[in-house]
Amino acid sequence: MNKKIIVAICGASGSIYGIRLLKALLNKPVNIYLFISNAGLKILEYENGYSGKDFISFLKDKGVAIHKDANLNIYEQDDFFAPPASGSFRHDGMVIAPCSMKTLAAIASGVADNLIHRAADVSLKEKRPLILLPRETPLSAIHIKNMYKLAMSGATIMPPSPSFYSNPKNISDLVDSVIARVLDHLKIEHDLSKEWGDSIV
Ligand SMILES: Cc1cc2nc3c(=O)[nH]c(=O)nc-3n(C[C@H](O)[C@H](O)[C@H](O)COP(=O)(O)O)c2cc1C
Repeated sequence: MNKKIIVAICGASGSIYGIRLLKALLNKPVNIYLFISNAGLKILEYENGYSGKDFISFLKDKGVAIHKDANLNIYEQDDFFAPPASGSFRHDGMVIAPCSMKTLAAIASGVADNLIHRAADVSLKEKRPLILLPRETPLSAIHIKNMYKLAMSGATIMPPSPSFYSNPKNISDLVDSVIARVLDHLKIEHDLSKEWGDSIV
């Protein structure tokens, strides 16, 4: 059966991480449940030129190829009737890429004010994988405390810190070095990076 993966894009800088994750997932027979926060939509426009209209055409313009057995289900941020809002929805992982400090705080305090918070809240209570790519710098003690609370509750805190030991040639390589780790944690095969110990040249 196809894996079911929830992807959320928040209004933090680095919406390219969400796009690159979708690119990697849509290339496979995976069912994707996508939520983009209202702030996330604005940053997608500002950083990546998304017009706010047909998201699939936008992805194709970004070079995304869609596998014939891939499914992309897109929900509004306030759609609490979406399947991932319920604990009875069995999925294989939720990734928030990038994750703003606001969404981080909401999840850490159990405030399910929109579908992203709710699906993350549900993932934690149902012990399903929840991976957050929090983006802010520097971090205040409040941010760090929220990350600690979530890590203690079972979430994986994966700051989008690209690796340089793979000799990246461009921004795309840097982004891929982060997304490769996300795919590793979702247990999805990929060729975005080599395992340390393999030849990298
Ligand atoms: C251009 C721009 C960049 C931003 N970058 C960040 C960021 O990197 N991290 C962050 O936590 N918030 C950032 N913000 C602020 C968030 O968009 C704001 O807190 C918003 O309420 C987050 O909402 P969301 O979590 O529902 O997406 C940025 C805002 C703008 C306009």
